[in-house]
Amino acid sequence: MALWGGRFKSGSSDMFKQVNDSLPFDHVMAVEDIFGSIIWSRALKNAGVLNEDEQSQIETVLGNLKTQAEEGNIDFSESPEEDIHSFVEAYLTKELGDLGRKLHTGRSRNDQVATDFRLWVRNHLGEIRQDCINLIGALLQCANRHESAVIPGYTHLQRAQPVYFAHWSLAYVEMLKRDLSRIDDLLARMNQCPLGSGALAGTTFAVDRQQIAESLGFSSPCLNSLDAVSDRDFVLEMLFVASTSMMHLSRMAEDLIFYNSGEAGFLQLGDDVTSGSSLMPQKKNPDALELMRGKCGRVFGHLQGLLVTMKGLPLAYNKDMQEDKEGAIDTANQWHICLCIAVEVLNSMSLNEEACRKAAQQGYANATELADYLVAKNIPFRTAHDIAGQAVVAAIEKGLALEDMEISDLQSIHKDIDSDVYECLQLESVLNKRDQLGGTSKQTVTKALYIELENWDALKRS
Ligand code: ARG
Repeated sequence: MALWGGRFKSGSSDMFKQVNDSLPFDHVMAVEDIFGSIIWSRALKNAGVLNEDEQSQIETVLGNLKTQAEEGNIDFSESPEEDIHSFVEAYLTKELGDLGRKLHTGRSRNDQVATDFRLWVRNHLGEIRQDCINLIGALLQCANRHESAVIPGYTHLQRAQPVYFAHWSLAYVEMLKRDLSRIDDLLARMNQCPLGSGALAGTTFAVDRQQIAESLGFSSPCLNSLDAVSDRDFVLEMLFVASTSMMHLSRMAEDLIFYNSGEAGFLQLGDDVTSGSSLMPQKKNPDALELMRGKCGRVFGHLQGLLVTMKGLPLAYNKDMQEDKEGAIDTANQWHICLCIAVEVLNSMSLNEEACRKAAQQGYANATELADYLVAKNIPFRTAHDIAGQAVVAAIEKGLALEDMEISDLQSIHKDIDSDVYECLQLESVLNKRDQLGGTSKQTVTKALYIELENWDALKRS
């Protein structure tokens, strides 16, 4: 019988069960639900509702069920129970009879589910935090392996200025560090415990909420029972942090898909993270990267979906809120998978440093240097920009790179151009002049890489 059967004369229809039951997906919170129940039984003992023997019997049975849940040994598919909370209580009652029926004293599934889901999100964020740290490590190793490699940097997907490949890797490290700090902010903000808030108005039993919170690993109890049972900000925030992180992964995937294309030819991906075509024997497709990019659709959708679900809900708990689970569970799974596959892609990839360098030298990516060279000769930048533009046009007409133009041809564009210009136009000079903090000179990139490797060591231990 359902937990709430007393007031009803007949049972639920099959269709009602289909729309209402959440066990098919909320069973993933089994361990968290049992943990919360054990702590609640201790709180009831301290409040004088259960005696020592009763509490210990409950804890033993729940402890056994928790072990089964942790080992994945429970088959939820055959259970008639409505949700994970009913499932755990039904098990307890089957084992202990009337004693099992005492556990729900002073508690509601409303404060229970709010607590369970916080615990579940917290556990998963812990795992994903580690995934982010691993990916930072993979990017740093990639930068280390290709310390001297140079690629074209793009704006508008037009070759703009050359950059070290390590500089590119470190750009994604910055994004991941921000993702990590967003995870940490969220973990700190959601670190309050709803249990003891009852259905909406608080509980009449003398439970110690501070102690309950601490036993469940929270820093404090939620301060308002109405808010505690109806707040799903922590789920929304998780979905936003996931969306931002997935957006970063998607941009990285897009860069790598382009670098891997026949047109760019900067890198090859390993056989273990690519697939072939059933028709075209020559194909090796960057599927892993495309899916890192593609899975953003569903994750962003889950964020939007829950925002719309929550909008306009009256206080306090409404069943609409049961819809918070599937999208969040899917998001945590996909986010984890994408962070892990990104590591595999980076580890498997081989950079064609020759092709990268060649491309970095093409496309007049050193035209800014010519302008800067003229600025050093006291020509205003605007004028220098114009002269460099004319030099590019002349070079295109001759089918040459700027540094391959005759000095006489360059001087016919502006008399102040001397043969020392060739030095400025060299790739290494173009790169290494950008030696201010955050720039792409060899020195700044090496230093940044060194600092990030140190940070990473500390992160791994955090
Ligand atoms: N399965 C429900 C959920 O996930 C549990 C809370 C049910 N509360 C209630 N008053 N019906 O939201």
